[in-house]
Amino acid sequence: MIRSIVRGAGSALPPRVVTNRELAERLDTSDEWIVERTGIRQRHIAGEGETTATLATDAARAALADAGIEAGDIDLIVLATATPDNTFPATATKVQVALGCGPCAAFDVAAVCSGFLYAMSTADAMLVSGQAKRALVIGAETFSRILDWEDRTTAVLFGDGAGAIVLEAQDVGDVGHNEGPGILTSQLHADGKHHDLLYVDGGPSTTQTVGHLRMKGREVFRHAVVNLAQVLNDVVAKADIAVDQIDLVVPHQANIRILEATAKKLGLPPEKLVVTVDRHANTSAASVPLAFAAARADGRVKPGDLVLFEAMGGGFTWGASLVRM
Ligand code: ACO
Repeated sequence: MIRSIVRGAGSALPPRVVTNRELAERLDTSDEWIVERTGIRQRHIAGEGETTATLATDAARAALADAGIEAGDIDLIVLATATPDNTFPATATKVQVALGCGPCAAFDVAAVCSGFLYAMSTADAMLVSGQAKRALVIGAETFSRILDWEDRTTAVLFGDGAGAIVLEAQDVGDVGHNEGPGILTSQLHADGKHHDLLYVDGGPSTTQTVGHLRMKGREVFRHAVVNLAQVLNDVVAKADIAVDQIDLVVPHQANIRILEATAKKLGLPPEKLVVTVDRHANTSAASVPLAFAAARADGRVKPGDLVLFEAMGGGFTWGASLVRM
């Protein structure tokens, strides 16, 4: 049986850190409000010369080094982002040329905060069907560039960064559908009728401007908890495993209260959650691979571990993947 195996992970964060107190100097907000409502204490913000492509390239280089794989051995790049460097070409093609790989397939995936789950599932399908052998799957964002910095209800929530993993197609032998290493199962969803709860009020085909992020936070919160609980239950049932067999959960880092409420609904102890929202804030498509790379660097991801990835974001889109290391 051919499976997509996680060979390595890496991340990149802009050096500039902006604390809640610094934001409170220019917005009507406070460290106490932000920490209590979201768990966020600081975020990294891209500076001059730093873009989604440069962050993605740095994260990809770190993932390749972790995997011990040369850039020239990569034959697929799937990059999830809602903040591409340009409307086109795909930011993945900038990463490809910066790394010096190819001419292999390279394209972007747009599913906002669930983008990394969509990208990983797409790369998995291409690896398992034999269209590629080694893939870089990247989540990279510069949300600071689409925030309305006058709007305290959204400006305090997001940060910039990138994370990447290397997936390799491998024959894992004659194993059961929930045994052996690799991506065991994934499930993706979208429901476009909630567009107005979370969107960017610009775009090439509508306003010819980049636009700013707009969100009805309280309603997004409510949908997030319900949708995530549902997809997590579905993916666990599909893989035919018990919840207590899951070793680690790598969730999209939007809000500590969403993370904890979802874990509670599923019956997962909080110590199995990877939490980086305090340090990174919400980095949209980058948040899951950033959190995964942090957990790996901390020694929390061991061979044989069953890891659950999950995310929900604008669209709405949401999804989950179960992966054995
Ligand atoms: N500082 C101080 N006060 C604030 C701030 C701020 N930064 N932002 C809003 N407030 C005020 C509001 O004006 C409101 O005041 P009022 O009662 O006088 O009207 C009060 O705080 C409460 O506002 P709510 O929006 O009801 O606060 P809530 O407890 O819902 O928290 C939050 C807001 C943090 C946005 C929360 O709803 C949330 O996290 N939602 C999920 C959104 C999200 O994470 N989206 C990311 C993409 S989707 C995803 O990743 C799942």
